[in-house]
Amino acid sequence: MTPQEKIRVLIVDDIAETRENIRRLLQFDTSIEVVGIARSGHEAIDLSQQIKPDVIIMDINMPDMDGITATEAIRRKIPYAQVVILSVQSDLSYMRRAMLVGARDFLTKPPSIDELTAAIHRAGAMAHEEHSKINVGFPSGTSPMGVVAPNVANQLGKIIVLYSPKGGTGVTTIATNLSIVLKTSENRVVLVDGNLQFGDTAVFINEPIKNNVLDLTSRVEELDPEVVDEVIIDHKATGIHVLAAPPRPEWADKITADQFAKLLQYLRQLYNYVVVDTASYLTDVVQAALEISDLIILITTQDIPSIKNSNAFLTLADASGIPRERIVFIMNRFDKRISISPERVADSLHQEVVTSIPVDERIVSNAANRGIPFMVDNKTQPISKTILNLAEIVKERLAKLDEAEVEQLRKK
Ligand SMILES: Nc1ncnc2c1ncn2[C@@H]1O[C@H](COP(=O)(O)OP(=O)(O)O)[C@@H](O)[C@H]1O
Ligand SMILES: [Mg+2]
Repeated sequence: MTPQEKIRVLIVDDIAETRENIRRLLQFDTSIEVVGIARSGHEAIDLSQQIKPDVIIMDINMPDMDGITATEAIRRKIPYAQVVILSVQSDLSYMRRAMLVGARDFLTKPPSIDELTAAIHRAGAMAHEEHSKINVGFPSGTSPMGVVAPNVANQLGKIIVLYSPKGGTGVTTIATNLSIVLKTSENRVVLVDGNLQFGDTAVFINEPIKNNVLDLTSRVEELDPEVVDEVIIDHKATGIHVLAAPPRPEWADKITADQFAKLLQYLRQLYNYVVVDTASYLTDVVQAALEISDLIILITTQDIPSIKNSNAFLTLADASGIPRERIVFIMNRFDKRISISPERVADSLHQEVVTSIPVDERIVSNAANRGIPFMVDNKTQPISKTILNLAEIVKERLAKLDEAEVEQLRKK
């Protein structure tokens, strides 16, 4: 950003006093210029189209149209404009919905002057950068390095978190193979290792770890496609990109939940699917990923400890306001000779087991030992068919959730 390029801000709030307070807080920062003030969601949309602000400070609760709906509409019309949500609730479900429709940041009312200006500076820099990208006009969505530039005009990618509350259940095995299936000529996929201490996704695809997730979270406010391109592992055999865990367990502590969530939000602008592998221990980082995810694949095995933990997790999910529709519950290492059937588990946990992946020691351990996922060279085996099926279930469920969300927006 050159010094003369001011950040042009639109303030949206239905309460006059709040609008005035924000305007007053901003008048001392010479790099910020308030170019418009709107009193409602509708007015915000109209005004945005006329004045094309860089940053919109958006209230959530407004009588005619809530701030999230207005954000969605504005982001569609002016994709480079960045929205900072201001809300009295620090409610995570609000934050999630806001992020889903493309909000850049989320502040709780009343923000301090430092918080507010810092958020505007970050958002403003982003807006200027996106704007300049549009102006130089890369051929539809590609940047010079062949990485898709932030695909702001299109739909954001989906975040799919694979989780099991018990270790050794097959999370990494399934995350890796599912990523490979989701990768097609149209769909870009990144597999992010959220098992920050002892992550092994890179091992599963036999790639040495050079750069890792820490290289992105440490500069999460200033990411661009080139930086991501430098850090990710490009797995040539499958086309998936992998963001490895740090090579040293003690480095995990350097990554905050907030940074990790922001990284995932950024990646969804570049990839159609952001698949997250996790550890069973519910760290802040894993919780943040679960909260902002579009879909959670919860994995159990056919044994009581694992089922008990899945039950505890579902109870926690209920309490945290994660709807059951967002959870795809599956059983791994399924053996039909064992009497604990998927149906019985579904009954007792009140959650359908949507598919069962068979136990196949030979294929799975062979793949792990060679570092070649079985979806690469063993596509026709029964276990592989269940992974293909899982990918279909995932896509269907995501489409259903999208529909429900649109329907909800329409009702408002
Ligand atoms: N369907 C399966 N059949 C046989 N072995 C499996 C299956 N799924 C996973 N495994 C094995 O279980 C172990 C744990 O798998 P992994 O994917 O590392 O689990 P997690 O990531 O949950 O710790 C590995 O040795 C893996 O080869
Ligand atoms: Mg694992």
